Amino acid sequence: MCRNCGNESPKWIGKCYSCGEWNTFVEETVITGKPKAGAARDGIMPSNKKPVPVSHVSVDELPRIDTGINEFNRVLGGGLVPGALVLLGGEPGIGKSTLVLQMALQLKEQTILYISGEESPQQIKLRADRLSDVLGEHCLIAGETSVERILTHVENIKPSLLIIDSVQTMACENLESAPGSISQIRESAATIMRVAKEKNLPVLLIGHITKDGTLAGPKILEHIVDVVLQFEGDRHYMYRILRSAKNRFGSTSEIGIFEMRSSGLREVSNPSEMLLAHHDEPMSGIAISAAVEGIRPFLIEVQALVSTAAYGIPQRSSTGFDLRRLNMLLAVLEKRAGFKLAAKDVFLNIAGGLRVVDPAIDLSVVAAVLSSNTDLAIRKDVCLAGEVGLSGEIRPVTRIEQRIAEAEKLGFKSIVIPKYDRGINFGNFKIKSVQAGKLEEAFKYLFT
Ligand code: TYD
Ligand code: MG
Repeated sequence: MCRNCGNESPKWIGKCYSCGEWNTFVEETVITGKPKAGAARDGIMPSNKKPVPVSHVSVDELPRIDTGINEFNRVLGGGLVPGALVLLGGEPGIGKSTLVLQMALQLKEQTILYISGEESPQQIKLRADRLSDVLGEHCLIAGETSVERILTHVENIKPSLLIIDSVQTMACENLESAPGSISQIRESAATIMRVAKEKNLPVLLIGHITKDGTLAGPKILEHIVDVVLQFEGDRHYMYRILRSAKNRFGSTSEIGIFEMRSSGLREVSNPSEMLLAHHDEPMSGIAISAAVEGIRPFLIEVQALVSTAAYGIPQRSSTGFDLRRLNMLLAVLEKRAGFKLAAKDVFLNIAGGLRVVDPAIDLSVVAAVLSSNTDLAIRKDVCLAGEVGLSGEIRPVTRIEQRIAEAEKLGFKSIVIPKYDRGINFGNFKIKSVQAGKLEEAFKYLFT
């Protein structure tokens, strides 16, 4: 079975013909049990459940459990839904266990069962002491890796929330394969899901994502669970972003931002203030972008450094921004705006160690590069939003009014926006909006 995509083959093969990955095939034992008693013979089975018209399905407003962490609630779509299976994925060391434990300690009204297959209860206690001064009488910890025994605990304790850290360490005893193998993960998750749905028990599963794929990636779980969350960030920086990749109970466009501190994760409810470095004087090579991640606008600083290439081939390096996109933007600058960047090294950095995918930061990337190249600083009270097209045009971006509002809220005096963004009610804003259709127009405003 392929560890990457779950494809099956009757013999070992080096390259998976389904997903194209190399060396991902592992042997899995297939259980061929007898069909259960009462199973249908001809594929037909009597059912006592009648299909009902969709208009007759009763919808009680789903009661949600407030996690006590606003950013977490927001990503979940308003809190944990009873009976929901939530998968929290992320690279090792990013802070998944910390986030979950912090939440568990705050939920004092609930009984929480925290199963850890990775750390001993002592280690968890040490971390809990570091995170909060809550006694944690309501949070029960067990070091357990057997799914059957976990279910016994669930039966005895009747928790209102079950946390499993991590799903890769869990195993069903009736399966012979090792913990972390595809069949174990799938079987464990399915067993836990059955119980969760039966008892209306919300379950938080933690899953690792490893690049080399030594443990099966939680990809196969994504179909089973109701919510898939990803915790990401650069381990060397303090910011962490919680995204949702799938949510059966809410939108996937929300994100949560946290900061990792020595006393645990802190919610960042106003990201702009954190991500803007404060300089007293304007400096060249810095442009402020009005970006949107998920549906939340925030301002972020883009820094560029352009210097004469020391060796023959100029270097291009970028942190937090797609390098190919940077190369494209440099080519646009070269061709459309006549700036000779071919013999220059270009370094680009998005402040705070965040990875931003919003195309609206293109304009500030271009402006920062140009500012560094000409050594002309951009005024501190200007920010930018716009996607740059191949012919040097500035293209409309989403949620422009929210960006303008955010810039105004943070005290900016003007914002450069795409010309062809229609339907903006400028009467709502005091900030000056400069509409630019081409790069030249934006540069004219910024540098003269
Ligand atoms: P952890 O939650 O163990 O990561 P994961 O479960 O995703 O593997 O967090 C690991 C890192 O977080 C660790 O390198 C130390 C850091 N950390 C802090 O900076 N402050 C804290 O209060 C805690 C508990 C951890
Ligand atoms: Mg952990």
